[in-house]
Amino acid sequence: MSDDAALLALLRVLEACFSSGGPPPHTLGLCKDHPEWGGHDKVFGLCKSLQAREYVSLKQKEKTLWLLTAEGERYAAEGTPEFKLLCWMQEHHEAQGHDVTSLKAAFGADTDVALSNAMKLGWLKMDKGTKRIQPKDQGTQGDPKIADLGSKALQTIREWHVKDAETDEDTEQQLHDMLRKVDASKQPDRFLQELKKRKLVETKKLKFCSVERAEKFQVELKKPLADLDAKVIASGSWKHQELKPYNFFARGTRLRRGAIHPLMAVQKQFKHVLTAMGFEEMDTNQYVDPSFWCFDSLFMPQQHPARDVQDTFFIKSPEYANGALMEKDYIARVKEMHERGGQGSIGWQYDWSLDESLKNIMRTHTTSVSARMLYQMGQEYKKTGVFTPKKLFSIDRVFRNETLDATHLAEFHQVEGVVAGRGLSLGHLMGVMNTFYKAIGIEKLKFKPAFNPYTEPSMEIFGFHPGLSRWIEVGNSGVFRPEMLLPMDLPPDVTVIAWGLSLERPTMIKYGISNIRELFGSKALLGGV
Ligand code: PHE
Repeated sequence: MSDDAALLALLRVLEACFSSGGPPPHTLGLCKDHPEWGGHDKVFGLCKSLQAREYVSLKQKEKTLWLLTAEGERYAAEGTPEFKLLCWMQEHHEAQGHDVTSLKAAFGADTDVALSNAMKLGWLKMDKGTKRIQPKDQGTQGDPKIADLGSKALQTIREWHVKDAETDEDTEQQLHDMLRKVDASKQPDRFLQELKKRKLVETKKLKFCSVERAEKFQVELKKPLADLDAKVIASGSWKHQELKPYNFFARGTRLRRGAIHPLMAVQKQFKHVLTAMGFEEMDTNQYVDPSFWCFDSLFMPQQHPARDVQDTFFIKSPEYANGALMEKDYIARVKEMHERGGQGSIGWQYDWSLDESLKNIMRTHTTSVSARMLYQMGQEYKKTGVFTPKKLFSIDRVFRNETLDATHLAEFHQVEGVVAGRGLSLGHLMGVMNTFYKAIGIEKLKFKPAFNPYTEPSMEIFGFHPGLSRWIEVGNSGVFRPEMLLPMDLPPDVTVIAWGLSLERPTMIKYGISNIRELFGSKALLGGV
């Protein structure tokens, strides 16, 4: 039967009930009278959908059912084991009584339950000396006083349940009355609890409802309008049509879950690798920096081409950082190092300008963050006399005034690692590189001497990419120059090795993306990423 056909049939039955003036029908009765509707759950569901249309209103009700368990059913049909045992012993009369072993042999698995219950009921007695058992009253075979009340009670409960299932009333009282007739000497409540404890009956809460006529009741299934679209509104047809009320409890359509952007996935993997290698993440939450941290603190001269508008985005407002917030002594030491050098260096030999170093820019690399951290480490050492070696990393966005093409964007992500400690050499740097790149899937490395204003020596890192089957540049690295570290107050015997790479490059290779604009920015392919 289709749902609509069942609904119509139900409406007809309900109309008859409502017009008869009798008590409101309930789902239990409806279900019993119309097995063709497919059981109580189904009828309940049909009533609910009529309620949603405001044809009827439902009143939730609940009652307790007493049901026989499988064992209970067996005892109701065959008698309780204690009674069966008593009958058997009377049939197989033994003058000295039976011993437990022979009873077990004859009566099987139920013997223990049967014995303990029959003893409790006082049907059997045991000779204290011989431990043999026999019925208390040998002469009472067929004694009307001894009856299988347990089994009768179970039959009564079943009988009651069949009737009870049809009514919406709480008929537990009737069950009690019926049980009193079985055994007048026992409180029905106790009786039921005993049977429940023996797991012969169980209780269940039954939820059902009574059905009452509601405002929109009719023996017709009108499909209310569910979608108010432009056509319906423009034509005004909504005025004459019934509208489906909102169901605020309905589940929404399941959305296909979003995916993690490749850059985020690779970033997560790198973080994992670096953390496992003992690196701590630096706080990179600052896109705008004074030029000082991006360049001057790194011993990059103010005439360096990277500091040109060709390469760097300068901030219009505020154009300059607040010099008062900078550490005067440190600035003086940086100025001195740029102008005249010190400790074996002759510096860059020019007039260093504070104003130039205060110009705000979008940071061009995350080495500005590393510089700040190293400066803090130097200050800590100056204060405490203790230098703590550190491994640090950062992964975040940097900005460059580049000509945009398939492999360059004005903003990208940089991965940077820094190790500061005593006695570190180029060999350590190469060792760290090998471990890191191996962990991200690049097994073979080559190092090429290079130039960096703030590292000496410097090396470009090339990795053999098995997928592309060629050597590709995978990073830049070096040992920070003493001209950068000494003004920070780091101890002179501390070496800092560092390397950096873009996050985009390995991500593009891993995901086979050839145009960076498909990966990042406003033209990113949503389907692709
Ligand atoms: N900052 C460099 C860059 O932008 C990377 C680098 C970091 C090089 C640390 C050496 C040491 O490419």
